[in-house]
Amino acid sequence: MNRVAELMAAWAVELDLSEDEQNRWKVAGLAHDLLRDADPDTLRMHLPPTLADLPDPILHGPAVAERLRLGGVEDGELLTAVAYHTIGDARFGRLARALYAADFLEPGRSFMSDWRAERRVRMPSDFDAVVRDVASLRLRNLIERGSAVLPGTLAFWNTIVREAA
Ligand SMILES: [Fe+2]
Repeated sequence: MNRVAELMAAWAVELDLSEDEQNRWKVAGLAHDLLRDADPDTLRMHLPPTLADLPDPILHGPAVAERLRLGGVEDGELLTAVAYHTIGDARFGRLARALYAADFLEPGRSFMSDWRAERRVRMPSDFDAVVRDVASLRLRNLIERGSAVLPGTLAFWNTIVREAA
């Protein structure tokens, strides 16, 4: 089991979710990066035109979701969570927000290890604030690098700050 799936499974248990729900969280963690190392141009060929325009590093999410959907997975929340785990999306519910946070906070990444370890300790009890922290940091990183911010990322940010207001 990879580190994101381990975090997702642990959080689902701590949140006292049902066994079915725990399994969904684990599956989201296990599946979300399955095509991360695939060739972006190959992934693009199998995506609808709107999604094929996405930058290379985030194509794998929509590609995995599309593969799961074609394979018969009908769990819309799970598919949205996997598709947009690097971007964010205004439709994100708790499962998708957990995956978004877990993907960034998993201990295998080497950057900002103290900042991320501190947020891992606060999960899942301080769930909403940690998700906002992660979204805020990622948004600031994009802006500081001079990168474009995708509409879904902004919509997700606006959704979570309005909820917190
Ligand atoms: Fe990913």
